[in-house]
Amino acid sequence: MNESHLKFLASPEWAATLETDLWPWIETVGDLGDDVLEIGPGPGLTTDLLRRRVPRLTAIEVDASLAAPLRQRLEGSNVEVICTDATRSGLDSERFSGAACFAMLHHMPSPDDQDRLFAEVNRVLRAGAIFVGTDSRDVDWIRAVHADDIFVPADPDTLADRLARAGFVDTVVEVEDYQFRFVTRKPTGS
Ligand SMILES: C[S@@+](CC[C@H](N)C(=O)[O-])C[C@H]1O[C@@H](n2cnc3c(N)ncnc32)[C@H](O)[C@@H]1O
Repeated sequence: MNESHLKFLASPEWAATLETDLWPWIETVGDLGDDVLEIGPGPGLTTDLLRRRVPRLTAIEVDASLAAPLRQRLEGSNVEVICTDATRSGLDSERFSGAACFAMLHHMPSPDDQDRLFAEVNRVLRAGAIFVGTDSRDVDWIRAVHADDIFVPADPDTLADRLARAGFVDTVVEVEDYQFRFVTRKPTGS
């Protein structure tokens, strides 16, 4: 991530937006349960949001320069930080009661990588568990924020089909001005 983007994602303004905007939405779409997976915590403000509300959280971050300080900051808490590529997490199948990825899909190099992530999240979720996420739409000012950075926004119009191919059902995608949110579910008994 470029420096200004990183600075914003570690800012009190972003933390406040997560509290007032993101968490209330999560509460309306489902229950993440007692053993939750977060993909792409970055500086960790979304991790803080989740860890205060769930008993156990595992955060997977591929960038070692972000994973290491987050692990250090959260040592002794209810969070385990793993530094690896979440498309091949190595975590146990059917372990997690819920999963979340916020503002991370567009940081993956290609749609194929995003599809591999969806399949991996499906693998590690329990039957019936939800997967929630938010991500950027392809708008000019967000593209500009990602100058010299990866920016591969997912198309909200095709997201439900892509999640279905990864094994998810009951997908709901809400499209807003500059972002979209989704909730989807691993089928019960699959
Ligand atoms: C823009 S940050 C989002 C941070 C945080 N979720 C938030 O909303 O404030 C996206 C993060 O996803 C991470 N990421 C990208 N691809 C990943 C992958 N394959 N596995 C794990 N993390 C990944 C990036 O390194 C980056 O830290």
